Amino acid sequence: MIKRPRRLRRNEHIRNLVRETRISKSALIYPIFIVEGEGIKEEIQSMQGQYRYSVDRLSEICEECLNAGVHNLLLFGIPSEKDEYGTGGYASDGIVQKGLIEIKEKYPDLFLITDVCMCEYTSHGHCGILNGDYVDNDETLEYLARIALSHAQAGADMVAPSDMMDGRVAKIRAVLDENDYSDIPIMSYSVKYASSFYGPFREAAGSSPAFGDRKSYQMDYHNRKEGLKEALLDIEEGADIIMVKPAMSYLDLVSEISKISNVPLATYSVSGEYAMVKSAANAGFIDEDSIVCEMAVSAFRAGSDMYITYYAKELARFIDEGR
Ligand code: PBG
Ligand code: ZN
Repeated sequence: MIKRPRRLRRNEHIRNLVRETRISKSALIYPIFIVEGEGIKEEIQSMQGQYRYSVDRLSEICEECLNAGVHNLLLFGIPSEKDEYGTGGYASDGIVQKGLIEIKEKYPDLFLITDVCMCEYTSHGHCGILNGDYVDNDETLEYLARIALSHAQAGADMVAPSDMMDGRVAKIRAVLDENDYSDIPIMSYSVKYASSFYGPFREAAGSSPAFGDRKSYQMDYHNRKEGLKEALLDIEEGADIIMVKPAMSYLDLVSEISKISNVPLATYSVSGEYAMVKSAANAGFIDEDSIVCEMAVSAFRAGSDMYITYYAKELARFIDEGR
C-alpha cells in the first residue's frame, strides 16, 4: 500500500495539523429570552439550563457571555400582553426594545441581533396579520418593517426577520434606509422549515399558534430546491446574511447554499436539537460535551460561516480547550 490514510491520524499533533474545520468563538451567536417583570430568572422547562430573564437581571447572562467570549446575542421578547396586531412588537417600550436599551448602555461590547417576528406578540400566535384563518402576506410586511425599525431605534446592531413572509427583506431594507438606518444589516431566516424542532422554543416564548400550523408560510421539509429559491430571493432583496434553520436535519441545504451564495451563511441549531441532546445526556445515554462539539463542527463543515446555538457558552469553552 502506498496510500495509508491512517498516517495522518497517528497522533494528536498530526491530527490537529491536518484538521479541515476550525471553529472560532467569534462565529457563535447565543439566543436570549427577555420577559416582562422584575427579578426574574426562570428556567425554561423544556430547555433545562436556559432561562427567561427580566430586563433588570439581563446583566447576569450578559456577563456570563462576555466571560465565555461569546459576543453575539440573538434577542427574543416575551411580552405580558398580546393582541391581534402584535402591537407590543413595535412599541418603543416593548420588551425587546427595553432589553436593547439596557444591554447597549451597560455592555456596549455585545453585538445585539433581534428576532423580528409577530408570533410572540399576537394573541393568535401566528407570525403575521390574519385575514380569516390565513396570514395576510402584504399587510404583515408593514408590521414587520415597523418592528425592525423600532429595534434599530432602540439600538439593535442587526435585525433578523424569522416570519417567512414573501418580500419582507426588501420591505425592511426600504424602511430602515428611509429612516437613516442603512448601516444596519439584515440577517434573514431565509430557509426556514415548518419544523417540529421548534416545539421547546414555543413553550419558552409562549408562541404556539392558537389554531392550525405554520405550513402556509414556513417551508415544507420535503423540499430542497425551494430552499435554494428562498435563499437566492433574500440575497436579491438585500439580505446581508442568510440562514438555514433548523441545523442538524438540514445540513444538505447548508452545504448547497454555501456553494451558490455570495453572502455569509448562518445555521441555527434550534430548541428541539438542544432539548434532545440535554435529555439524552441527563439520561446518561450520550456524552453531552462531545455531542455538542460534533454537532457544531458538522454545521461549519457543511459550509456554515456562523452558528446560533443554546450551547454557545459551553462551545466557547470547548474551543478554548482545543477540543
Ligand atoms: C419566531 C421564531 C421561532 C424560532 C425562532 N424565531 C419559532 C417559530 O417559528 O415557531 C425557533 C427557534 C428555536 O426553536 O430554537 N418565528
Ligand atoms: Zn414567528
